[in-house]
Amino acid sequence: MCGIVGAVLTQGSVLEGLIEGLRVLEYRGYDSAGVALGLEGGVAIRRRAGRIEKLEAALGESPPADSQIGIGHTRWATHGPPTDANAHPHTDGGERLALVHNGIIENHGELRAELEAEGVAFKSDTDTEALAHLLGRELDNGAPTLAEAMRRALSRVHGYYAVAAMRFGEQRELVCARQGPPICVGVTPEGAFLGSDVLALIPHTREIVFLDDGDVCELAPGHLRVTRLDGTEVERASQHVSWEEADAGKGVYPHYMLKEIHEQPDVLARTAFSRIDEERGDVLLGHEELGDGGWSDALLRDVSRVQVAACGTALHAGYIARYLIEGLARVPVDADYASEFRYRDPVLMPDTLALAISQSGETADTLAAQRLAREKGCTPAAICNVAGSTLVRESDAVVLTNAGPEIGVASTKAFVAQVIAAYLLAVRMGRARGVIDQARGLELVRDLRLLRPSLERLLSEEHVSEIQAVAARHVEAKGFLFLGRGINYPVALEGALKLKEISYMHAEGYPAGEMKHGPIALIEPGMSTVVVNSRGGVADKVRSNVEQVRARGGQVICVGSDPESLDLADEAIVVPESSEWLSPVLNVIPLQLLSYEIARLRGCDIDKPRNLAKSVTVE
Ligand code: G6P
Repeated sequence: MCGIVGAVLTQGSVLEGLIEGLRVLEYRGYDSAGVALGLEGGVAIRRRAGRIEKLEAALGESPPADSQIGIGHTRWATHGPPTDANAHPHTDGGERLALVHNGIIENHGELRAELEAEGVAFKSDTDTEALAHLLGRELDNGAPTLAEAMRRALSRVHGYYAVAAMRFGEQRELVCARQGPPICVGVTPEGAFLGSDVLALIPHTREIVFLDDGDVCELAPGHLRVTRLDGTEVERASQHVSWEEADAGKGVYPHYMLKEIHEQPDVLARTAFSRIDEERGDVLLGHEELGDGGWSDALLRDVSRVQVAACGTALHAGYIARYLIEGLARVPVDADYASEFRYRDPVLMPDTLALAISQSGETADTLAAQRLAREKGCTPAAICNVAGSTLVRESDAVVLTNAGPEIGVASTKAFVAQVIAAYLLAVRMGRARGVIDQARGLELVRDLRLLRPSLERLLSEEHVSEIQAVAARHVEAKGFLFLGRGINYPVALEGALKLKEISYMHAEGYPAGEMKHGPIALIEPGMSTVVVNSRGGVADKVRSNVEQVRARGGQVICVGSDPESLDLADEAIVVPESSEWLSPVLNVIPLQLLSYEIARLRGCDIDKPRNLAKSVTVE
């Protein structure tokens, strides 16, 4: 969950690029940051607990000399609290090398005891420092290069890691390695660059090599060499990444989250419109970077069930996928938390499509769930936003969501893109199985096009100020209950998750029909209830929930297109009508805006909410 950058240049100074890279990656972890710069006679290390600004202040107080080689890190603490001493980079005892690390070294206790018995003095509480000393020991034992020391040291390590290490002094070397969390590299004639995320590399190059687990990579300007831990050299092809550098900026918005909320009409277009085949009343699931995406008619026809596994917001999209695939393609679907699925020894039939949903494609539990399903003979498939991610590379069939980089920790546009991708998959599956005929297919794909103006309306200034007013009236609420039913039940879950993630208010999402089995006890004046209800099969059922909450003195904010519910509620947020299948895409927008506005009024750090990380690459 930490961010890693590194670079070696032919000339100039590496520092500014490292800091820029760290800024872009800060969303991955933000409780401390540091850099190490290789100098003629040694190293300059600056590291500070707190945000990157603290590191910049430290660099301002004692500016290091220009250097052409360096590594940097932004941390999300796992071992040892976020202090200056625990911030990365860490060095070996002999001060020949510096190391940054993302992940967990599981046997660090054993390694530490072994090294301490040999007289090594540790300076931090981190698991990372053990690896720095191991590398130093391998150099002492005659490893001719840092890469060789890395291969030998890593064969002693159990755990999940992405690491970058730099040797300074006379023999300047930069290496990185991966076992679990991602690391990618790229070269130009002027330099070589590494990062835990493509976003850190795109200012330098779009031709990116994604390392595999077990790879060790040596970097020099214009040159990469990848080996396995046993020293065997391997070729890793580069992939062209089409993301724009500007996609990683905030543009005119004060927060990434707001920018990403406002991008959603474009995300709809990018995820869906180029895939619509109006002539055949069908969709194409492929992508220019992935060909047909692996979705043959035979695969879609022969599947007898779908098992979704995901985490967080992606699981909420997975719950919606269940309604879509069952409802439109008539294939049974189960959806589970990846962290539960992987440990419950699930019973899986080989003709199951194991559908992992993930923005990053690097979430540890989601990857583990997917690997388990593959072992059990299921076909691994994914809905994912990152073309070069581990999940995409390990899946036989993929729908790329094309949402562009999502930086705000609270997911918004990725969710909408995942729901749209699930809709596309449901339509394609229904067409391949003959459950949806051409005429119905045409209606379904046309419904997608109708969403764009509605999304734009929901993001208009008038609508946003309406939501600002609602937020102001509820900012002091004792708590929030979000209710929805049918395909909008997961929208209620998502609304509650967004609010608690960024405003730290207590919020619960519930299926409306379950209200009388518990949450109704919470209803009293001062408790706010958001009811999501659009026209459709269950609208009248949800309407009675609105009445029940009001009868007990609760305040109801109704979000949706069901006119009667909107009339009954204390406050109404009107959402344009759409097909019921696509109503989650519209209904979630006011909920995203409501949590954003409440968090803003409460003065919360919206893009970097406390204790959370964007990409959870460890268990
Ligand atoms: C973290 C993020 C969430 C995200 C979840 C799954 O908890 O903060 O926003 O939904 O991970 O991430 P993924 O990348 O797999 O979608």
